[in-house]
Amino acid sequence: MLTIPFQKAKLAVVLLVLSNVRYSATSYCTQTENSITSMMLRQYVFKTFHAPTSLGCLVACEEDVRCQSFNYIINQDICELNNRTKEARPEHFIFDVNRYYYGMVRKRVPLGSISELPAKSCREIKASEGQHAVSGSYWIELIHLGKVIYAECDMDAEDTDECSGGNHTCDRDRATCTNTIGSYKCACKYGYDGDGETCIMHCARRLPQPGQNDMWKNRLLKIVQQSGFTRKNHHGLLIKVRLSFFSLECLNYQAITTQSGRKNTYVTITAICDDHLFGWHRFEAATGNKMPTSCVPSDRCNTHATGWLNGDHPTVAEGLVTRQVCFSYYDCCSWSINIQVRNCGDFFIDNFTGTTPEHPCHLRYCSTD
Ligand SMILES: *[C@@H]1O[C@H](CO)[C@@H](O)[C@H](O)[C@H]1NC(C)=O
Ligand SMILES: *[C@@H]1O[C@H](CO)[C@@H](O)[C@H](O)[C@H]1NC(C)=O
Ligand SMILES: *[C@@H]1O[C@H](CO)[C@@H](O)[C@H](O)[C@H]1NC(C)=O
Repeated sequence: MLTIPFQKAKLAVVLLVLSNVRYSATSYCTQTENSITSMMLRQYVFKTFHAPTSLGCLVACEEDVRCQSFNYIINQDICELNNRTKEARPEHFIFDVNRYYYGMVRKRVPLGSISELPAKSCREIKASEGQHAVSGSYWIELIHLGKVIYAECDMDAEDTDECSGGNHTCDRDRATCTNTIGSYKCACKYGYDGDGETCIMHCARRLPQPGQNDMWKNRLLKIVQQSGFTRKNHHGLLIKVRLSFFSLECLNYQAITTQSGRKNTYVTITAICDDHLFGWHRFEAATGNKMPTSCVPSDRCNTHATGWLNGDHPTVAEGLVTRQVCFSYYDCCSWSINIQVRNCGDFFIDNFTGTTPEHPCHLRYCSTD
C-alpha cells in the first residue's frame, strides 16, 4: 500500500528538479533537499487546488507573495499552499504518509517583510528566517488589538517592545506596562483598581445604587450592570467599568418608545416625516430595538419613504461610527443621509439629523426588533 504513493512521490520530486532546471540551473542542488516526503505543514494552508504535477504548485507558490511553502497530496494531485515554513512553525510540521512538503520556494519573501504576510511576532520571523533574520522594521499582526503594525524587531532580543512603542492597551496614565516575550502585561498603579486596561481611582469606584430617582444615574447603572464589564466587590459594589467603551451619549439620549407604526412591518396609514428628529435616539419598547439593516419596502413604517441602515450595526469596540441611511421609495435608496451610530453594550443609539433637506417629507427612520 505504501509503496505506490512513495514511488509517485519520487516521481514528483524528479519533476520538480527538472522544472527548476528551467527556472535556474544554479538552484538545482538545493531544490531536492526541500521536498520532504511523508511530512506536511498543518494549519497554514491558505489555498488548495488541483495540479497534475507538483510543478503547478511551485509555479503558483512563486506567483503568490504569501506563499512560503507547500504540501502536495500525492495520490490526489492536490496542492496546498502554506503561508508559513516548517522553520517558522515546527510544532505544526507533522507526519502524513499521503503528502510531501516542499519548502524554501525560490522567490519566497521573508516573513513579515510585506504587509500581505504579517508575522505573529518577531520571534516567529527569527524562527522562519534563521540566520538571515536581521533587526529592522517588519509587519506584525497584533492579534489582541486586531491590527497589523509596522514595528521594530530586535533579532538579538527576539521581541517587540509593545510598551515603549505604545502598541498596548494598558490604561495610558494609570497603569504600568511591562514588556514580556511575545506580549506585555498591564497593571494599575498604586491607588487605582482595575484590570490594567481600565483603572479607576479607589475613591471613584462607588457607583450609583438602584433606587435613586435620577434618570442618568439609573441609566449609567443599567449600562454598567448589563455591559458585562463589571463585577461586584465584597461590599456588593460595582467596581470595574471599561471606560474606553463608555460614552456620554449612551446616557443622554431620547428613547423612542411609543411612536406608532414605526416598525418595518407596519403598513402605512398616515404618512409621517422625521424632518424634526435630531440628536441621539434609542428605539425601545413598542418600536423594537434598532434600525433594520436591509431594504424596507416603501409605504411601511407609517411613511412613504422608509429609512433603513445600509450597513451593519457596530460592535462596542468600534465606538462611534458613521452609517448611511437609505430611504426606500422608487428603489431601495432613492434618498440617503449619513448618521452616527453607537453600540452602548446592550443597545444601539442613532444620532439623527432630520431627513434629507432637498426632500424632507415623507421620509422616516424605521425600526425593527
Ligand atoms: C495564513 O493562512 C491561515 C490559514 O488559511 C490563515 O488563517 C491566516 O490568516 C493566513 N495568514 C496570513 C498572514 O495570510
Ligand atoms: C507601534 O505601532 C505604530 C503604528 O501603529 C508603529 O508605527 C510603531 O513602529 C510601533 N512600535 C512598536 C515598538 O511596535
Ligand atoms: C450628531 O451628528 C451631527 C452630524 O454628524 C453632528 O454635527 C452632531 O454634533 C451630532 N450630535 C450629537 C449630539 O452628538
